[in-house]
Amino acid sequence: MDSLTLAKAKEILAKHTKEAHLFVHAAAVSAAMEAMAEYYGADAAHWAAIGWLHDVDYEKYPDEHCHHVRELLEPEGVSEEDIGSIISHGYGVVTNEKEPQTDMEKCLFAVDELTGIVHAYALMRPEGMKGMEVKSLKKKFKDKRFAAKCDRDLIQKGIERLGLELSVVMEYCIKGMQAHEAELGLEKE
Ligand SMILES: [Fe+2]
Ligand SMILES: [Fe+2]
Repeated sequence: MDSLTLAKAKEILAKHTKEAHLFVHAAAVSAAMEAMAEYYGADAAHWAAIGWLHDVDYEKYPDEHCHHVRELLEPEGVSEEDIGSIISHGYGVVTNEKEPQTDMEKCLFAVDELTGIVHAYALMRPEGMKGMEVKSLKKKFKDKRFAAKCDRDLIQKGIERLGLELSVVMEYCIKGMQAHEAELGLEKE
């Protein structure tokens, strides 16, 4: 297969995942990746597809996450490059196979956890994603009791690797998730 498409990513993930919250996470990371691609002037459809599929082996192999990506994706004809990109998001956490190297890989690593904070914040705001500002998101980021499961150190590490300001990545995460608020169940009147 050439570059992975979002339609194909959705088809593959649905074969291996049933839990609704994992689809919401897939949609959030995909939305953030689409926006980050815009920042880099890259292939947004491709980045969105990688975001959608990045946790493909998680539901089946939560304790061996990223170690079963290749066996699930090779038979689907997903390219070695795309498989490597997906595996790299677990670098230093669940695998040491491949370090994030490309802009896309570095972005995936950085936004994976960050979207969790954005999502949790949207859930507590009456307006959902609408009008969310970087400044107030930063406060939630600093409050480690808020969305405590989202690993701030990991996000920082990802941001450092990217060489961008946290506020820039936050801005694009918000933007991307706003564009997909309905899909994320965050649409408000
Ligand atoms: Fe993951
Ligand atoms: Fe993830």
